[in-house]
Amino acid sequence: MLKIFRGEILHFLGDPAKLPLAQSYQHIEDGLLVVKDGLIEQVGEAALLLPTLLPTLPKDAQVTHYPNALLTPGFVDTHIHYPQSEMIASYGEQLLQWLENYTYPAERQFSDPEKAADIAEFFLDQLLEAGTTTALVFGTVHKTSVDAFFNSAQKRKLRMICGKVLMDQNCPDDLSDTAETGFVDSKALIEQWHGKDRLQYAVTPRFAPTCSRPQLDKAGELLKLYPDVYMHTHLSESKQEIEWVQELFPESKNYLDVYDQSGLLGRRSIFAHGVHLSEHECQRLSETDSNIAFCPTSNLFLGSGLFNLKQAEAHDINVGLGTDVGAGTSFSILRTLNEAYKTQQLRGEKLTPFKSFYLATLGGAVALDLDDKIGNFEPGKEADFIVLDYKATPLMARRMAQCKSLAEKLFVLSMLGDERNVLATHIMGEAINNTNNTFNYNTNNTIND
Ligand code: GUN
Ligand code: ZN
Repeated sequence: MLKIFRGEILHFLGDPAKLPLAQSYQHIEDGLLVVKDGLIEQVGEAALLLPTLLPTLPKDAQVTHYPNALLTPGFVDTHIHYPQSEMIASYGEQLLQWLENYTYPAERQFSDPEKAADIAEFFLDQLLEAGTTTALVFGTVHKTSVDAFFNSAQKRKLRMICGKVLMDQNCPDDLSDTAETGFVDSKALIEQWHGKDRLQYAVTPRFAPTCSRPQLDKAGELLKLYPDVYMHTHLSESKQEIEWVQELFPESKNYLDVYDQSGLLGRRSIFAHGVHLSEHECQRLSETDSNIAFCPTSNLFLGSGLFNLKQAEAHDINVGLGTDVGAGTSFSILRTLNEAYKTQQLRGEKLTPFKSFYLATLGGAVALDLDDKIGNFEPGKEADFIVLDYKATPLMARRMAQCKSLAEKLFVLSMLGDERNVLATHIMGEAINNTNNTFNYNTNNTIND
């Protein structure tokens, strides 16, 4: 099945902080995206592609025109908790108290599979509405929380990564597993879900304080047994947490070393936050090709600190963006970019609009080791993309009218944008929200209207 999309196109070919800017992205004012069987077949200038394409089009080829909007790869959220959807915006605490007061009570409800199924559906609606097409997702300690999530994601044909939380100490008894049951449950989930359709599994120790050394070792054992599953955890988020980790693991050189000693670092390991990392920790993340999820709305909300993006760049560590809902305050990657920019301002650094949109798309795909499948419009990749309306509000329409460059338009999108700007989300080329912009090509029509 052939589908053609016409509109302004932007996608990244590499990191604008590493490449000459002009080589890092492709921007086409009037472009065509040709999708065959859910995969990108071609991308290019409409004026160049149309003359060769039109005579070859099958009669039932679908053509969708999005004038005055930007087609870009779907956003990638590299760290989020689906069970925390209903507890977003819980008042007044920093990390450790926030976990005790709000998070554990919310996650306790997921012993009920019906609750899990309901929230999984709601969560995926929220993600797609915000233009996020792939995410790395925490479940709860309950095995069934992951079944519920993967069932919803599978039905929607989404590329998603999720895992059951491992925690066997310093947490409520009824939310605790053991090193052994955590291992057995995770193994069963990997066998059932990893590599099924577009779903992948992440071994998910919550964070060092709630995991005993035997449990971390068991997590390492799983990664050895299944080398292509992910590892997803938290690292160096708050100062209080770091002190606690030093008390709990006096034999470790630093926070990262707690994980390193159990074999948890690597290309498919994603560490959320990393707000207070030493040079040694950055070196070790870099040499093991491990990844960081930068979660600005969460870091500001919990008062955790300001992520040092320049330090990560200097060490060549792959960084993606995470919303970290429910400590994060929005499902929207555009809103996340807004606060990312402000955290860097407070550090005296500039986050450029190109780097922002790179992080939101290809950068996230690289951090998740999925850049052979998603993240840009290279032929052969999966056609998960979104359509951004530059002028979703009267204020944005006025502000955009003043913009003189693509950089300026992207910056305004990232400062004023949110779910309202996501006109459409496409999964494997299929629009999941109706836009009335699609028609069937027939030989009497041109596709210039
Ligand atoms: N550290 C351990 N658990 C959590 C969590 O659920 N959210 C955040 N932000 N940090 C954590
Ligand atoms: Zn988190």
